[in-house]
Amino acid sequence: MKGYEIRDIGLAERGRQRIDWAAREMRVLGLIGQRLAREKALSGIRIVACVHVTTETANLVRALKAGGAQAVVIASNPLSTQDDVAASLVADEGVAVYAMKGEDTATYRRHVDIALDTHPHVIIDDGGDVVATLMSKRPEQAGEIIGSTEETTTGVTRLRAMERAGRLPFPAIAVNNAQTKHLFDNRYGTGQSTLDGIIRATNILIAGRTVVVAGYGMCGRGVAMRARGLGANVIVTEVDPIRAVEAAMDGYRVMPMMAAAEIGDVFITVTGNRDVIDVPHLERMKDGAIVCNAGHFDVEVNVAGLRRVADGPIRLRPFVDEYRLRSTGRRVILLGEGRLINLVAAEGHPASVMDMSFSNQALAVEYLVKHRGKLSAGVHLLPREIDQEIAQLKLTTMGISIDELTPGQRDYLSSWEVGT
Ligand code: ADE
Repeated sequence: MKGYEIRDIGLAERGRQRIDWAAREMRVLGLIGQRLAREKALSGIRIVACVHVTTETANLVRALKAGGAQAVVIASNPLSTQDDVAASLVADEGVAVYAMKGEDTATYRRHVDIALDTHPHVIIDDGGDVVATLMSKRPEQAGEIIGSTEETTTGVTRLRAMERAGRLPFPAIAVNNAQTKHLFDNRYGTGQSTLDGIIRATNILIAGRTVVVAGYGMCGRGVAMRARGLGANVIVTEVDPIRAVEAAMDGYRVMPMMAAAEIGDVFITVTGNRDVIDVPHLERMKDGAIVCNAGHFDVEVNVAGLRRVADGPIRLRPFVDEYRLRSTGRRVILLGEGRLINLVAAEGHPASVMDMSFSNQALAVEYLVKHRGKLSAGVHLLPREIDQEIAQLKLTTMGISIDELTPGQRDYLSSWEVGT
């Protein structure tokens, strides 16, 4: 067994059962894993995976291992690790895992360093911390990297900034931007798991409440849709005029956060930006307003600002902290310390949607290895055929068949002569 740092190896049995349960919903990834195993497509490849340590991630790691890779797994967020999964990965799969739910930032950073000490060929990043650490602290290792893959919108934004700054010397695949990733994981995954996290943390009734969703990208759409489905009055805040029009025409009220702050009962940030809920917003909120975040980093709610202007926190329940604003005497309830509420208080996105996200990850790693030395430095998209293959396999596992174009229809689509 390799080195590891986890909460409790004794949790492995429960972790293995939960990983097997998720596997039943991850049949596309299962098929890909079987092929990678037959072809030993990843033989000798050292991978560092900095991801949320969940049952779904464990199935990705199983697939990569089956393909012959050696993986080191570290957490991409201090509060998202499922300790039983970490234990099973170590005990049952012999994987080096450095992740504990509740680890502090210094430990989190130390784990990134331990992972980089293994001199990976491929980095699977979720948020960009490993690639950014490599380039800022160990640029001499960049030559060893075949490439990286990035799971999330925030990480892709960061990679593009590195590319612009001339600091991305290897190919990085924006897995997030695959259609079979962001159209489903970001929308249906974040939509369901965020409401799940809020409900598990608080057990509040959503029906009849005013829910403010900050950001109307794919994640915001999913959250707004599911909140409405549970009976909430939904308000959307945006900075992008096109997205704001979409939200308005989807039937939501759209207004600035300063206006929404006075009316909302529950606030959910999914923007990828910082200080979206800032002190002036917090000071306007109703007594008992609930505030949480489902964006990647804990910067969307200005938690440091809240701590400066409020007394507390008083922990009311796990992941539920009450602050009392000194200026108004009103209380704000912050969930999950402002970190991803869907992974902190619930289990992240359900396996069936992570099936497609992590199939993209597995195929992106294979693609990098197959094209080793041939891809230019910078951000790449996965080829469209891979997206289509994943969608087709997903349909098959869902028992859905679709029509095919007839030769006449193909001709029609490629001709310009036929009109009225
Ligand atoms: N991100 C969101 N949900 C996730 C999950 N279930 N596993 C890994 N990463 C995730």
